[in-house]
Amino acid sequence: MEIGTGWVPTVPLGLALLGAEVYTYDHLAHLRNNNLRTTLDLLHTSIDDIARQMDLDRDGLRGRLDEFVRVNARNPRAWLDRIGVHYNAPADAAQTGLPPETVDIHFSVNVLEHIPSAKLTDIFSEAYRVLKPKGLLWHGVDTSDEFAAIDPQVTHFNCLKYSALIWRLIGQNKIHYINRLRKSEYLKLFGSTGFKIIKVDALITPEDLTTLEHIRVNRRFRSFDKTELAMRHFIVAAQKAATAS
Ligand SMILES: C[S@@+](CC[C@H](N)C(=O)[O-])C[C@H]1O[C@@H](n2cnc3c(N)ncnc32)[C@H](O)[C@@H]1O
Repeated sequence: MEIGTGWVPTVPLGLALLGAEVYTYDHLAHLRNNNLRTTLDLLHTSIDDIARQMDLDRDGLRGRLDEFVRVNARNPRAWLDRIGVHYNAPADAAQTGLPPETVDIHFSVNVLEHIPSAKLTDIFSEAYRVLKPKGLLWHGVDTSDEFAAIDPQVTHFNCLKYSALIWRLIGQNKIHYINRLRKSEYLKLFGSTGFKIIKVDALITPEDLTTLEHIRVNRRFRSFDKTELAMRHFIVAAQKAATAS
């Protein structure tokens, strides 16, 4: 099960290529047929690399991908449904309607940072309900300031300068919502919803630590370790605490 399908559903389509059935939820329906075609084209150009890196049968993957392309349904929901990807949007990932203990992996890519923390608690309580006892939580979280991607004057840690009030105006509005949670806050949230962390991989570079030194962070962030503030991205894997080995 995925949260935050977005515009280019590479991961759900990749998993479907490998034979998985995927339930994906987005609170907004961004997907259009042309995005779907673009994503399938992208997979087509990378299929040899994917097969080589994962040691899979290239012709088998190509054949399946061609079948996906041939579906060519009238809308993305119908198209995806026919290839085993169930697109739910607009939908609430905290109320999936899925039966309990039926999901193997609960995942997202660059989505959690866009969700308010109270909603995250509801989403991860639902994740606990739908995951199988040995199911896996896997999330990639972008903790940088996304404005840095469009404005070279802005550093990846710019968002840490602002008080909650100012950030609500510039970074938590209808068009753009970033919660600014740091890694330890996410880990605490996963723990409070019943999960045990089994792995964390974080992106922290010496250059980013130097950049951070030139920023006066708001007092909301002053108690955090510098390495945590300078973290741009992290990946976390967790399992239900009751069954984690
Ligand atoms: C930056 S995009 C990432 C999309 C996709 N995962 C990718 O990597 O290309 C963030 C996505 O999260 C979705 N999103 C934000 N809040 C959400 C929520 N509460 N529930 C489900 N999806 C949400 C947005 O609509 C958007 O599609």
